[in-house]
Amino acid sequence: MDNDVLSPAEPRAAARDTAPDHAWWRSAVIYQVYVRSFADGDGDGTGDLAGVRARLPYLAQLGVDALWFNPWYPSPMADGGYDVADYRGIHPMFGTLEEAEALISEALALGIRTIVDIVPNHVSDRHPWFQAALAAGPGSPERERFWFHPGGGEHGELAPTDWVSSFQGSTWTRTVDPDGTPGDWYLHLFTPEQPDLNWNHPDVRAEHEDVLRFWFDRGVAGVRIDSAALPVKDEALPMLPEEPAPGQHPHVDRDEIHDIYRAWRAIADSYDEPRVLVGEVWLEDAARFARYLRPDEMHTAFNFDFMTQPWDAAAMRRSIARTLAEHAPVGAPATWVLSNHDITRPVTRYGREDTGFAFDRKRFGTPTDLALGTRRARAAALLTAALPGCLYLYQGDELGLPEAELPRDVIEDPMHFRSGGVDPGRDGCRVPLPWSDHGASLGFGGDDAAEPWLPQPAAFAPLAVERQAADASSMLALYRAALRLRREDDGLRDGVLAWLDAPGDVIAFRRGASFASVTNLGGAPVALPAHTEVLLASAPLAGGMLPPDSTAWLTVEPAGEESA
Ligand code: NOJ
Repeated sequence: MDNDVLSPAEPRAAARDTAPDHAWWRSAVIYQVYVRSFADGDGDGTGDLAGVRARLPYLAQLGVDALWFNPWYPSPMADGGYDVADYRGIHPMFGTLEEAEALISEALALGIRTIVDIVPNHVSDRHPWFQAALAAGPGSPERERFWFHPGGGEHGELAPTDWVSSFQGSTWTRTVDPDGTPGDWYLHLFTPEQPDLNWNHPDVRAEHEDVLRFWFDRGVAGVRIDSAALPVKDEALPMLPEEPAPGQHPHVDRDEIHDIYRAWRAIADSYDEPRVLVGEVWLEDAARFARYLRPDEMHTAFNFDFMTQPWDAAAMRRSIARTLAEHAPVGAPATWVLSNHDITRPVTRYGREDTGFAFDRKRFGTPTDLALGTRRARAAALLTAALPGCLYLYQGDELGLPEAELPRDVIEDPMHFRSGGVDPGRDGCRVPLPWSDHGASLGFGGDDAAEPWLPQPAAFAPLAVERQAADASSMLALYRAALRLRREDDGLRDGVLAWLDAPGDVIAFRRGASFASVTNLGGAPVALPAHTEVLLASAPLAGGMLPPDSTAWLTVEPAGEESA
């Protein structure tokens, strides 16, 4: 596929320039496709590329600019595909490389770009490199691409460090030598099936740079970089310091990591339409986060700060201000993310007593008011879609799907098992989508399709696409209207944010000259600021007042531009 076909030939919005838009990513709406659960084209119970291709018109109608696909590569699926066995192929249960190429160009013909997921920190334990390393034995060059190390203690029985896995437990697993005796240990920040790569090894760097070119040459517009702050380790493998100084943690956010992304940026920039790097960067320190977004590194990174805030106007307003302030010095656009395949669905989260998000607070049987959560998720949808920058939308959030409370015996997520069964894990937000309100798989597969790989709760049927498409008051209708306005309104696209005076429970701001967004997080209706038109509201206005837990978009009298 050559470079020139990367720019959509027929942009959907008449208002758009037909010239290639190299800055498309600064204000894009990016829809996250978890292929396994999006649509099942061959009826085997698992979503696939055929299913996505058949549903591209739905995505075009929704009004998204790009699709981010979770890993679609061959994988034993020990961690939902984040254990990659071959970075240049497609998992047979999803389809073939030819289908992926067809999907990329068909999406583009509808004005939709494609982003693929790159996983640099680790590979699958079935990856040929790791298999070769195991076979070659201690001290071999094959093992230098990973972190093999002898254990401590008299017989090497102690793990080399006290590092704690992101999925709980130790980050080390002991190998067994070819003669059957216990051998060296290897490092894995996630599961034992995901051995960490050694980024000091030139093969590791060269391989990933080649993988980037492989996908860029196939027309993908960018990559989402998994666990982007983790790949570089302190070679000395020290124990965890009590309070590591910035850049001094043995395996998080080390200063040397930026060289990797500078090299990747040079590759991305070498294309006629430069490709885009999006980082999954979980860091609390805003200044350290912004370093990944310097002009010669990544284009954007997920902003998890806003997503983890409770349903509280002051906390959310502070997070918005903090986010914009931290991005400004590096000139990068912010991103707004309400959820993804790792996070409790917004309608569930916002319907609980604890409305913020932290991985270690997830429990089975948490009481949830879904009507309240849905109301708030609608308000949050408009709030985030009105903020400056790039918007991420995880599949199913446009339908207001709740988190599914799955029976324990169907859960596959290693987070659940490694918590000793205490944490329900992340499969509850990965349940196959309902396309129709009837049939065994609610239209996920055809009429005779096998059962979906995870069971759909009864609550999914009334939320099916088919139903919501015919209901002007549905979540789907709200998203479609919001994304249309976002495309058409200049202020919403690139207008500067200026806060409006508002009561403490209200988040109100102007974008550009005449657009305003007002969200009421309090318990009583509030008056709207002076306006000439209500463009859209997440709930019916009550006598001109904005009810609790709702957002309205307004046209207001033009004002002089102020800065945020
Ligand atoms: C972040 C991904 O989003 C998550 O799903 C995965 O388990 C870890 N990285 C490890 O790859």
